[in-house]
Amino acid sequence: DMGGHDTYMHKEISEQPDAVDRVLRGRIDDRFSTVHLGGLNLDAREARTIRRIKILGCGTSYHAGLIGAGLIEELARIPADAEPASEFRYRNPVVDPDTLYIAVSQSGETYDVLAAVQELKRKGARVLGVVNVVGSAIARETDGGVYVHAGPEVCVVSTKCFTNTVTAFALLALHLGRIRDLSVADGKRVIEGLRRLPGQIQEILKQEDEIKKLAKRYADAKSMMFIGRVRGYPVALEASLKLKEISYIHAEAYPASELKHGPLALIEPSLPTVAIIPDDDLLEKNRAALEEIKARSGQILAVAHQEQEKADHTIVVPKNEPELDSILMGIPLQIFAYHTALALGRDIDKPRNLAKSVTVE
Ligand code: M6R
Repeated sequence: DMGGHDTYMHKEISEQPDAVDRVLRGRIDDRFSTVHLGGLNLDAREARTIRRIKILGCGTSYHAGLIGAGLIEELARIPADAEPASEFRYRNPVVDPDTLYIAVSQSGETYDVLAAVQELKRKGARVLGVVNVVGSAIARETDGGVYVHAGPEVCVVSTKCFTNTVTAFALLALHLGRIRDLSVADGKRVIEGLRRLPGQIQEILKQEDEIKKLAKRYADAKSMMFIGRVRGYPVALEASLKLKEISYIHAEAYPASELKHGPLALIEPSLPTVAIIPDDDLLEKNRAALEEIKARSGQILAVAHQEQEKADHTIVVPKNEPELDSILMGIPLQIFAYHTALALGRDIDKPRNLAKSVTVE
């Protein structure tokens, strides 16, 4: 049942305010400015002994994991990174007893992620899951975890589950942060930010008509470049994957800082760039990148907190707390990918060559 929408993707994009509300519900503790995560199975004493966090997932879940690692480093100050699960399992990884491993999966059935979990368990590691489907294989094999509560996601490309997974990571990071060194004031600030998310997502959804017009303008492109820095880079990766999957337009994502180390050679009028530019410490650096692109007559679509003078078009996104900005900045680009694919007449819910869950190697 598409509930009045033409595609599941559109329905699932539109459901995000409610979905985010669900991942937050019942978990926030205002008294201690923290978060309770029932199924984590990690007590405070154990949480204090974690020296590193390694996040594993595939595709969109890997991208959510990259943002998750950033959130954990920012809020809990625990060194964290993310890696594609399939790469991890085939490189005979060094499994360290002081590292907490986190497997991320919408379906909970992705074979490469499951196999990585099993390899880790065999080596005695502690593995948690950040999973959407309750009772799925990965949920069962992990020692505990956080359910993402995005609800059923039918479209092959992930949208609402990405947003909810990143929000679940924000909850986990806040929880770990408050056990360690995050102050009550910062905890409170992030909690207030989390509560603003559903309303702000609603505001972004209201811009659909304008985003649709932009998508039509760029739909002829043979290729597109996506750039961002630090918090913006995983958003660029995810937006470029979304565009590739459903529109079949070639897209690349780069840290904006890497442009001059190579990809700048590609910039010309026929290669548009989508630039993710939050209003954070890197704003000026990002603007400098736009100038570099303009100097080569590249077209620019910015996703930013304020109109960007150097850009040809800007999608303005509401501002939250800096740590949570990446959650919001991905959403207009889901809508952008959707309308680009629609303009090109693609089968949005069933993109060629792809399956919803990849349960084979
Ligand atoms: O179910 P999972 O989250 O484990 O799936 C992982 C990837 O296969 C999945 O995210 C894939 O990249 C999607 N098609 C993204 O839209």
